[in-house]
Amino acid sequence: GYSTLENSSSLTFSPVNPTAHNQLQVAKDYQSQVLIRWGDPLFNEAPEFDPLTQTAAKQKQQFGYNNDYVGFLPLPFGSEQTDHGLLMVNHEYTNPELMFPGSPSDAELTQDQTDIDIAAHGLSIIEIKREGNQWEVVKSSPYNRRITPETPMNLTGAAAGHERLKSLISKEGVETIGTFSNCSGCVTPWGTLLTGEENVDEYFLGDHTQLPEAKNYERFGMSESRKHWGDFYDRWNLEKNPQGLLHSGWIVEIDPYNPHSIPKKRTGLGRFKHEGANIFINKDKRAVIYCGDDQQFEYIYKFVSKGKYDDSNRQANMDLLTEGTLYVAHFLDNGTLKWLPLIYGQGPLNKDNGFGSQADVLLDTRRAADLLGATPMDRPEDVEVNPSNGKVYAMLTNNSGRTEHQLDAANPRAHNQHGQIIEFWPEDGDHTKNVFQWELFLLAGNPEQDITLYHPDLPQEGWLSCPDNCAFDPLGNLWIATDGAENAGIPEGLWATEVSGKHRALTKRFMAIPKGAEMCGPFFTKDGKNLFCSVQHPASGSTYETPSTRWPDFSNTLPPRPAVVVTRNNHGKRIGS
Ligand code: FEO
Ligand code: CA
Ligand code: CA
Ligand code: CA
Repeated sequence: GYSTLENSSSLTFSPVNPTAHNQLQVAKDYQSQVLIRWGDPLFNEAPEFDPLTQTAAKQKQQFGYNNDYVGFLPLPFGSEQTDHGLLMVNHEYTNPELMFPGSPSDAELTQDQTDIDIAAHGLSIIEIKREGNQWEVVKSSPYNRRITPETPMNLTGAAAGHERLKSLISKEGVETIGTFSNCSGCVTPWGTLLTGEENVDEYFLGDHTQLPEAKNYERFGMSESRKHWGDFYDRWNLEKNPQGLLHSGWIVEIDPYNPHSIPKKRTGLGRFKHEGANIFINKDKRAVIYCGDDQQFEYIYKFVSKGKYDDSNRQANMDLLTEGTLYVAHFLDNGTLKWLPLIYGQGPLNKDNGFGSQADVLLDTRRAADLLGATPMDRPEDVEVNPSNGKVYAMLTNNSGRTEHQLDAANPRAHNQHGQIIEFWPEDGDHTKNVFQWELFLLAGNPEQDITLYHPDLPQEGWLSCPDNCAFDPLGNLWIATDGAENAGIPEGLWATEVSGKHRALTKRFMAIPKGAEMCGPFFTKDGKNLFCSVQHPASGSTYETPSTRWPDFSNTLPPRPAVVVTRNNHGKRIGS
């Protein structure tokens, strides 16, 4: 017989049951093309990649390392093009032990290697187009651009120009230089990119404990520096640039349609370890942006713009994110979610607690949220609205530090290795409201070993672990990328599930990626027929000389390379069918 519409699934692809862990594998009848790899030239005159003769000057004209967020906007702006547009990619961090012969650690890099390392961070913006089933990079495009930790930028919003932001790189506290540790993000309806600055504390050397900002840096979760750029450049040494870390941890807005545009850090969205940002245009046309702060026991935030989005005037939206209200989430065990506003002068956010202005509230976002009683979560990563049902989905990746005494309904497992997904929504569809409802969508893990929550008919090969990034296809199905599944014994990859009806939380594996890699992106073109994904740090945990995989080139003269892949159905059908 045939099923009724309610019973029929919109995700009919045959799931991948991964076998070869040094390869990328995708569902039957699909093909994943490697679109661009670390070192690939972005300009006509840019040199080809050669790991033995790499320089910073070359790297500035080539695709950066560790692609994380990937987004697509059509060319021309405002068109419905799904096979010609701009690809925007974050280069979150680097793995020197896989980049350079001799497998140096970060601390061992020479000045030349450090300069290459710095230039491999930031973002790439590239024009791409499709002919038949093949996508290609348009190297002659005037839009192609590298943004690096050296690109001039500005701070905007209530914290801009504040005394605390005056530093070695900023006389007025308005101008700033560069972005790094860019994790995830989104594209806005007015054709800009939002990118999150995440683990920025790992880039600063020096003893911070005696500095005026010591308390702030402590609460920011200052870890031992991974990078040693501060050995060569004072701006990354807090003893020489004591305010330096305050210039990082923001959401940055970039106009990819103007290759000369100056990126803007939007201080109104708060300063923390920003996984990313996802936008939703509310029914009253205000922009609502959801953000996760990715560290154990940190919070989920939303920003509501003061002004309204104007879909007939692109220019009128370009500074919409300068002004608005930031809220932090308090999840009650009874299924209510309260959004607590972070407004200077309201409640405890006053001089008695060391806040002298809204700028202080934004610079010390985490401490302000502590005082309001926000709910500490299991590492919030992507927090994204499903346009099909108006509900928000938060990927909570894991939290090994949570004890039996720290459980609540939204974070219900101790020593949480696998993470969960929660769903929340405003009762009347108005995302500016202070009260929402929430529900657990899924508790990840292996149902044979862990307490999990999935569809009761989940097949054994359907489980996942450590949800990180997500996307929605045009039918509203949730696609989940993982970072940490390998620790649970399965390859990282991409899963899909319907969000309601008979197949809610029935996850199916669509893609598996090579050893050591993390799955990032994902991003669908509007027709749902092209899926961009980032394969970040393949072979991590091994070395340049003996990598655990040589994906994607499988050449003995090339190291493994992070790369963006684009997936299409062999018959041009919707992804997932
Ligand atoms: Fe860069 Fe939260 O992952
Ligand atoms: Ca992430
Ligand atoms: Ca996403
Ligand atoms: Ca992660």
